[in-house]
Amino acid sequence: MKAVHVYQYGRPENLTLVDLPKPKIQPNELLVQNVVAAVNPYDCMVRSGAMWFMEGFRFPKILGCESAGIVKEVGKKVKQFKAGDQVIVCTGRRNAYAEYLAVTEGMVTGLPESVNFSEGASLPIAGSTAYDALHELGNIQSGQNILIYGASGSVGSFAVQLAKLAAAHVTGVCSTSNLSGVKALGADEVIDYTTTDFRTLNMKFDIIFDTPSVLKFGNVKHLLNRHGTYIATLPSPLTMFYQLISTKGGKKVKTVFAKPTIQKIDYLSTLVYEKKLKVILDKEYPIEQIAAAHQYSETKRAKGKIIVKF
Ligand SMILES: NC(=O)c1ccc[n+]([C@@H]2O[C@H](COP(=O)([O-])OP(=O)(O)OC[C@H]3O[C@@H](n4cnc5c(N)ncnc54)[C@H](OP(=O)(O)O)[C@@H]3O)[C@@H](O)[C@H]2O)c1
Repeated sequence: MKAVHVYQYGRPENLTLVDLPKPKIQPNELLVQNVVAAVNPYDCMVRSGAMWFMEGFRFPKILGCESAGIVKEVGKKVKQFKAGDQVIVCTGRRNAYAEYLAVTEGMVTGLPESVNFSEGASLPIAGSTAYDALHELGNIQSGQNILIYGASGSVGSFAVQLAKLAAAHVTGVCSTSNLSGVKALGADEVIDYTTTDFRTLNMKFDIIFDTPSVLKFGNVKHLLNRHGTYIATLPSPLTMFYQLISTKGGKKVKTVFAKPTIQKIDYLSTLVYEKKLKVILDKEYPIEQIAAAHQYSETKRAKGKIIVKF
């Protein structure tokens, strides 16, 4: 089977396509033939070595957090799936860049009819990050004013739509070429950060979700309502400091760490099935071009999810 190995940390060219034997399943596992895997900025961070303190120095590694495909075999103890089922797989932090996966039932959920493989594989990480930020950390409420910074990216495009589904008033911030796309997602207001510094506007928000984690809390604090929350996607010493001192009430600082449970993925995929949530897909690459997919992700200009096909 095709798989992508990383033998040492470094540049995208370090991603090496290899031919491996298909994994053998245990009685509690399913064998899934991946049709697609999604690329996440986290994969690029691991590959570059930026996450060495979490990922260690054991090589080769197979990257990839999420995929979608077809069940080929099931172990004797598997209850909920059968060969032929179309599924979404959330592998956690690694292993999705492989044509076949041996996974337990807890890592898999059904792909609803009419939701395609690329849409399904896009949901676990970016969808859960947006959901967790708005619902679990931000406690979003109907009628609130929400600002989504980086509204055209994978996390941002889910966040705009989930905030609208929560009946909030949504302001999306993006660059010029993404204005119409963010408006089409349902944002009530769209601000072009290349021409307008939203920090100088007379606006107040209940949640500021900084999806690229480039704003600093100190620079946007004045835009939060009294009990408003600033949410970043990446931890930084400054964010952690504000997070610690902001626990006593008033304005809050939080950092989201995605927790993609099967329940959340099912909730999101049902929304896609019901046509209440759109998955914005950007580029698709054959797995042989995984290095190009990483290079594109690292431009930080993706307009939605990046997919690799097996
Ligand atoms: N903590 C977690 O569990 C978790 C989970 C998922 C993702 N993340 C992190 O969240 C971030 C976003 O992830 P993603 O998957 O949404 O990435 P992505 O799809 O690559 O995001 C690209 C988007 O970000 C916008 N952007 C990039 N730099 C910007 C800047 N300086 N100012 C404003 N907008 C900017 C771009 O919009 P324009 O082209 O319009 O500028 C582009 O649409 C990444 O850093 C990722 O590592 C964290």
